[in-house]
Amino acid sequence: MKEVIVVASGKGGTGKSTVTVGLGTALADEGYKVLLVDCDSGMRGLDIMLGITRSLVFDIADAVSGSCTVENTVYPCPNKKGLFLMPAPLNAYDEVAPQVLGQLVDGVADIFDYIIVDSPAGVGSGFEAAAYPATRALVVVNTEPTSLRGGQNVARKLTECGVSDIRLVINKFNRKTFEKMALYEDLDEVIDVTALQLIAVIPEDYALAAAIQSGKIGTASKASNALSRLAGRIQGRKEPLLIK
Ligand SMILES: Nc1ncnc2c1ncn2[C@@H]1O[C@H](COP(=O)(O)OP(=O)(O)O)[C@@H](O)[C@H]1O
Ligand SMILES: [Mg+2]
Repeated sequence: MKEVIVVASGKGGTGKSTVTVGLGTALADEGYKVLLVDCDSGMRGLDIMLGITRSLVFDIADAVSGSCTVENTVYPCPNKKGLFLMPAPLNAYDEVAPQVLGQLVDGVADIFDYIIVDSPAGVGSGFEAAAYPATRALVVVNTEPTSLRGGQNVARKLTECGVSDIRLVINKFNRKTFEKMALYEDLDEVIDVTALQLIAVIPEDYALAAAIQSGKIGTASKASNALSRLAGRIQGRKEPLLIK
């Protein structure tokens, strides 16, 4: 196994799940075997985004209770070769403890090249579980002060959790709206506020959002090109950031 990447944000709705699915798709397109772990207990959604809801039988809670093996919780995405999902518990009270999630991930780690853990919002116990097995992190923010504060808080928490390789993803970027709102001089100022190293700027793109929300991943769009470049940078390639 190559890497376990946690996708976090502090604030809800910044696009963690969308980035998780988009990055996973881009890595699978390069021929990697990728597991997405949905850690949003009670609010799971990656099964919808990957189009596996109808075939879903077991989730993380079943593996924890011993009703199934950890392998039984891994589902292949029907629309994308190489992409797999471990679904979150349906009920919030089944939230998994950090060490337990660590054991589950360890149990399947050898099978995959990349494991991407989608964190719930906040910096509570669900986030701590998502961060536990991670070797690196993507902090997803939008260009608004409340979102950036969430990014700062979550980055601090990630460091406390022992994750030191933390990169910034600016998502839903729209140059016109950004300039109209005039909250920041430029993107450099946004990056400075977070004090994190930028790895991607994903444009606001409702074609991508709609495709992912309807389980039709892999549809080419402006944002999917940015996600492919993010996949390249994750592997250490010098892809352009292309901030327009
Ligand atoms: N790049 C984007 N462009 C447009 N809409 C986006 C983009 N990324 C996410 N969204 C939309 O933003 C909302 C929140 O995204 P989601 O991935 O569920 O966030 P989170 O997991 O952080 O709560 C959804 O409606 C999603 O379709
Ligand atoms: Mg989410």
